[in-house]
Amino acid sequence: MITIHLQPHDPTQAARSLQVQEGQSLMQSAVDANLPGIQADCGGLLTCATCHVVVSAEWLAKLPAMSGDEDSMLAFTAQVREPGSRLSCQIVLTDALDGLRVTLPESQY
Ligand code: FES
Repeated sequence: MITIHLQPHDPTQAARSLQVQEGQSLMQSAVDANLPGIQADCGGLLTCATCHVVVSAEWLAKLPAMSGDEDSMLAFTAQVREPGSRLSCQIVLTDALDGLRVTLPESQY
């Protein structure tokens, strides 16, 4: 198990920390925990961009490089893309990501 931290867009709200199974996507972990803020309308098929998260700078370099398809889909997020933007369905959680911290967008629509 590893721990991930999801910060709501509103910085006055506390981050939610989840203990999750490695090998699962960040999106699936958040959905399984009924965490608000990640919609994942396509269920991880990389066709909706409603699983947008912003990865903090210190973790960004530890993530696998994004695919061209993910890069293209980030043009369709509701919140403007930022340097740390990723689609959480494409982030597979591994030991190396224990402690991962991401911020949720204000809205996914
Ligand atoms: S869940 Fe649809 S693109 Fe990630």
